[in-house]
Amino acid sequence: MQRDDDEDARASRAVVRQGYDELADTYASERGDQGNETLLDRLRADAPPGPFLDAGCGDGRGVLDVLASERSVAGLDLSQEQARRANDVAPGRVVQGDMTALPYDADTFAGVTAFYSIIHVPAAETPDVYEEFARVLRPGGVALVTTGTEDWTGRNDDWLAGGAPMEWEILGREASTRHLEAADFEVFDAVGVIDTLGDDRERGESQLVDAESDDAEKLFLFARLDR
Ligand SMILES: C[S@@+](CC[C@H](N)C(=O)[O-])C[C@H]1O[C@@H](n2cnc3c(N)ncnc32)[C@H](O)[C@@H]1O
Repeated sequence: MQRDDDEDARASRAVVRQGYDELADTYASERGDQGNETLLDRLRADAPPGPFLDAGCGDGRGVLDVLASERSVAGLDLSQEQARRANDVAPGRVVQGDMTALPYDADTFAGVTAFYSIIHVPAAETPDVYEEFARVLRPGGVALVTTGTEDWTGRNDDWLAGGAPMEWEILGREASTRHLEAADFEVFDAVGVIDTLGDDRERGESQLVDAESDDAEKLFLFARLDR
């Protein structure tokens, strides 16, 4: 029997949540520095004063901790284990939750980051994510999100050789920009990244490239709330 869209989304969310619970150590050891500080410096330079939310913060290493060195922060992650770990980085300011329905009041944040996290949200729900980011941002607030270069949906039954499956529904630049604009964002910059997660390429060095480069495997879109 064919599952309907809601059932598909629920099943996919469960795979992602359990995967990040079970693969927390594996993911932490495989993740490299892919130029996060450079990207965050740029974002902070363009952001109004105020707190930041990291949506899909993982264990809080690499983004939430960098933001917390300069700003008041909040973190949110679907995975209970990832949220628990991120609480060590920002004690009492990380919750388990879903970025399609954020547990924050309107006009709370000056910036929202979503590094490598929206790529796991069912594509049909991506517009909800950007609507939620727009709702919790203050006027002129900024967002920095990882997208694909092109649309791609897939599953790996043994992700990172860690024994658990993982699923992705990645929207590329065109669809992501369209959904951001529909939520009142203006995309003002794009940077490409060579995604070294899970392979043996150089770690510890910036993997940022021109957004138009053939080497770009994912994109970071910088967007400002146009209200
Ligand atoms: C690839 S990890 C990235 C973690 C961190 N941002 C980083 O850059 O290392 C993706 C994270 O997004 C979280 N995530 C996936 N779907 C989510 C959703 N709908 N709401 C909140 N978090 C989600 C996962 O649990 C996971 O911790």
